[in-house]
Amino acid sequence: MRFPARAGTTLGMDVPAVGEPLPSVGYVAQLPDEPAGDLYDARPGCPLLVEQWRGNVVRPGIVGHGVVAGPDGLGAGRSWTTKFIVDRVVRSDDRLEFGAVDESSGLGFTCEVEALAGGAIRIRHTLTNRAAGVYLLDELSVSVPIPDDHTELLEFTGRHGGERVPQRHPIVDGVSLHESRAGKPGCESATILVAGTPGFGFAHGRVVGMTVAWSGNTRLGAARGAQGPAFLLGGELLQPGEIALGMGESYTTPWVFVIAAEDGLDGLAHALHTWQRTLPTHPGPQPATLNVWEAVYFDHRQDKLEELARLAARVGMERFVLDDGWFHLRRNDHAGLGDWWVDPDVWPDGLQPLADTVHGLGMAFGLWFEPEMINPDSGLFRAHPEWVLQPAGRLPLEQRNQQVLDLTHDAAWTTVRDQLDAVLTATPVDFVKWDHNRDLLEAGSTAREGAPAFHDQTEAYLRLLDDLRQRHPQIAWESCASGGGRIDLGTIEHVQRFWTSDMTDALARQRIQRWTGQLVAPEYLGAHISAPTSHQTGRTLGLDFRAGTALFGSFGIEWDLTGASEADLDRIAEWTQIYRSHRALLQGGRTFRCDLPDPTAHGYGVVAEDGSEAIVALAQLDESASNRGNTLRIPGLQPQTRYRVVWLGPVAESATGPLGDQTISGAALATSGLWLPRQRPETVSILHMGCSNREE
Ligand code: DGJ
Repeated sequence: MRFPARAGTTLGMDVPAVGEPLPSVGYVAQLPDEPAGDLYDARPGCPLLVEQWRGNVVRPGIVGHGVVAGPDGLGAGRSWTTKFIVDRVVRSDDRLEFGAVDESSGLGFTCEVEALAGGAIRIRHTLTNRAAGVYLLDELSVSVPIPDDHTELLEFTGRHGGERVPQRHPIVDGVSLHESRAGKPGCESATILVAGTPGFGFAHGRVVGMTVAWSGNTRLGAARGAQGPAFLLGGELLQPGEIALGMGESYTTPWVFVIAAEDGLDGLAHALHTWQRTLPTHPGPQPATLNVWEAVYFDHRQDKLEELARLAARVGMERFVLDDGWFHLRRNDHAGLGDWWVDPDVWPDGLQPLADTVHGLGMAFGLWFEPEMINPDSGLFRAHPEWVLQPAGRLPLEQRNQQVLDLTHDAAWTTVRDQLDAVLTATPVDFVKWDHNRDLLEAGSTAREGAPAFHDQTEAYLRLLDDLRQRHPQIAWESCASGGGRIDLGTIEHVQRFWTSDMTDALARQRIQRWTGQLVAPEYLGAHISAPTSHQTGRTLGLDFRAGTALFGSFGIEWDLTGASEADLDRIAEWTQIYRSHRALLQGGRTFRCDLPDPTAHGYGVVAEDGSEAIVALAQLDESASNRGNTLRIPGLQPQTRYRVVWLGPVAESATGPLGDQTISGAALATSGLWLPRQRPETVSILHMGCSNREE
């Protein structure tokens, strides 16, 4: 059978049948609608849960064992291998669920598969211990087969300020894993693992992607053995003893998203972006945002910040965010985390006057927190040193002079919740930037004698965020973790924005935004114009390049505008106006990226879902080796409609656009494309294509 019968990512699989083993999946592909729905497929497949009895021993999807106390001591190693037999099947158009039992171990299993708007599917497993004793679970992964002609893998790595660096490698026999072990995806996160036909690109090649919707420890990988197909696997990475199931207890994996596309990486991205736009938490078009971090760092002075707010309003900003440094003793990054009240030395009248100024200027007011963290130099740490995640007997290494607050202690969770709630109740806050600036290293809990608490901490983080969201429904939330260290499809259901990276140098940002967009729609990705000379790289870049780069995300500013010239302020205002007038398209259309032969250039853009208009950019990053220029092929426009192509930017390149008074059909733009001559390095050329009313 196939699931689902409608268009999108499709599993071709055995019909799950009561009394039979877990169904095997023969293929994953993007297929069109086919209401009849039952294709015959006899190829050897891979079940959604790989069990060892089948003979595919390269990598089991379930690893664990039962422990019982008997007269001769502890009996470990029981029920370490399973053969589940289906005992229940529920199927509708969009949902498939089957339950199974393994009689000998007393384990119960449920697999849920959901078809999502946009064409992705998501899968999760639940394991239940129905026997006496404890079942210690080490791994429960979701697997799907990789089509045999998908022989290349793409995934990502990175670092602070350099997130989402693509890595490609061939699929080989054995197991290739990319794990996150720091209690969050991290700046080095794999993000999404894609298998595809050789040389797959943005607009071509068949691909299957997998990502784990979890903000804690994760495992993503590909495995290939002599038997059966290669397969992708994904799930939560569990530390020893984290999941110990007593009789009647269950563990459910995070959702594992699987996406197939016939049209390359853009097809994958489009499926995910479309689903994100159906979420009840989706932000809609984003306000232009000034964040003060790179303008003042920890140097908070009310008069300076109010001046910055006035300039923000002058250039068209709609939101003003006060970053790190406003709370008790937080004059640098050595102290204060854990003591969430306004510092009266810096803010003698509290934050209300600044919030009033910001609101009076017509902007929303945002505030920074890092709720899961604690500085050893804080009142909270001195009162409760046991509220720090730690293995038995010692503290983990400090990072940025801080430790992680153990939210699995109810009292710690309630204390930080109450502190944040008090600030958010006392101050009219419309936006919270929620940061997370260190790894969870050796994250044990004193509540369990130092046993690992990554899983419980991740759940407690989401519970804390949701509790505050419920108390303060007017607030929009941004996830930040030293930049883009917590961007995942778990957190996305709880927030409206991500801070994409602490790298605000536009040249470096071009690559980071390009690849973060593989997972997340552009409206989520904070993209700010920073100072002319980058604080991260020391490189000086022109304002139009910086602004044109920010235009394609959740646009904003990260710059001390009190030092900007009048001419620059006017120019920023023009860019802000462009953003505000086009954001419905930029943040509602279909993102595409061009496969250009010139490695020094990026072509990309957004096409309206109905094909009525597009905005297209050619970013020239470095000097091109040739004078051949670049051809941008723009997919998704209406083939028969003719489009007028005009420059979009503060300065019109010519009064009538790059094609003079000509128009060009959607079919031609998609196939022969639009040629642009070689551009100067560190420039971005932005074009708008709108329907022309003229007949052909
Ligand atoms: C890391 C974030 O990514 C920055 O934008 C800023 O908020 C600092 N933390 C503040 O400490």
